[in-house]
Amino acid sequence: MNEIFEKVERTFLSKFGKTCLFVQSPGRVNLIGGHTDYNDGFTLPLAIDKSIIFGISGNSVGKYRFYAVDKEESYELDINQPLEKSEKGWPNYLLGVIDQLHNRNYQFDGFDCVFAGDIPMGAGMSSSAALEGGLLFGLTQLFEWNIPPVELARIAQQAENEFVGVQCGIMDQFISLNGKEKKAMKLDCRSLDYEFYPFDNNGIAIVLCDTQIRHELASSEYNVRRQQCEEGVEVLKSYDSDIRSLRDVSIGFLKEHRDDLDPVIFKRCKYIVEENDRVLQACEDLQNHDWAAFGQRIFASHAGLRDEYEVSSRELDTLVEVAHHIDGVLGARMMGGGFGGCTINIVQESAYEEFSEQIQKEYANRIEQEIKIYKTKASGGTHLIKESVES
Ligand code: GLA
Repeated sequence: MNEIFEKVERTFLSKFGKTCLFVQSPGRVNLIGGHTDYNDGFTLPLAIDKSIIFGISGNSVGKYRFYAVDKEESYELDINQPLEKSEKGWPNYLLGVIDQLHNRNYQFDGFDCVFAGDIPMGAGMSSSAALEGGLLFGLTQLFEWNIPPVELARIAQQAENEFVGVQCGIMDQFISLNGKEKKAMKLDCRSLDYEFYPFDNNGIAIVLCDTQIRHELASSEYNVRRQQCEEGVEVLKSYDSDIRSLRDVSIGFLKEHRDDLDPVIFKRCKYIVEENDRVLQACEDLQNHDWAAFGQRIFASHAGLRDEYEVSSRELDTLVEVAHHIDGVLGARMMGGGFGGCTINIVQESAYEEFSEQIQKEYANRIEQEIKIYKTKASGGTHLIKESVES
């Protein structure tokens, strides 16, 4: 991380010739609770030790100026110019934040922003949430705004929903901004109440296997899944007016109304209702240090995502199946929106080397492609790493 920090510091100085403040904003993994966030449900994510570092400082040239060190690309616009989507992609996450701040009547001048990081892009570790939350948090430091953490997450999520156009839930932005070292967060995506559970990696490793497959399909199918869940709610609430989302539906009630639902909608709803329950039980497992039970729920989550929610892929299924047969693997499932990206594996630390070797070999045998492996751990959320020092 020091290397990235130095890169950002050096680049900022050479581009803008002045000091700045520095913010670190992490990626995330989600242990369990796939696709439950936009159904008002529960999730169990944690912030990871891969992050983006930002250097930010105000300017008096009336411009927002950005520089992405890793891409060696810059983007700038006049502060009075209307915000328009950029074809470069990455500026949209940042412009989305500015857009939300404008909508909320925050007044601010131009600023300069340089960033670099080590979150693999598009792998399902939420580099986008780290970008949104990092800039937003940096601006609160620069302009001395006091915005509560829950509100920061809402602003960052809306930046993605409204400007980038992905109808994501709030989990990624929330955990990236508010994660804690050595802790997993049980997040109630309806009330936004949260609670931390110990996850100090003591003897347990979090290992990500990246298929390196990035599908366009992911965002369109993601929005389709959201609609299908809403469709289910529409039908179910005609039988019980207290139902506002799948969070309010029990498995018994859902099964009673099986024939009232289209079979595909029924499958989608069943997965969500059961997944919510699994998250709550997984939290109990963590409390009881019952890693075996915890891991089984993670495998069950994958089976639901594969067979009922249908957002997995041959590659992800292969990784989970291979992991299942390796000694020392407690649980594995696909993570994030689906169709590509990573699986998350909970592995006994002592079995890590063997796991890493075997899964790469077996995957190459079956799929004839390479995966990338990342070992990660529960780390802190977005924070200031160095204040601006006037020279
Ligand atoms: C993506 C979205 C999240 C969440 C996950 C699936 O990462 O950004 O809001 O819905 O998919 O759990």
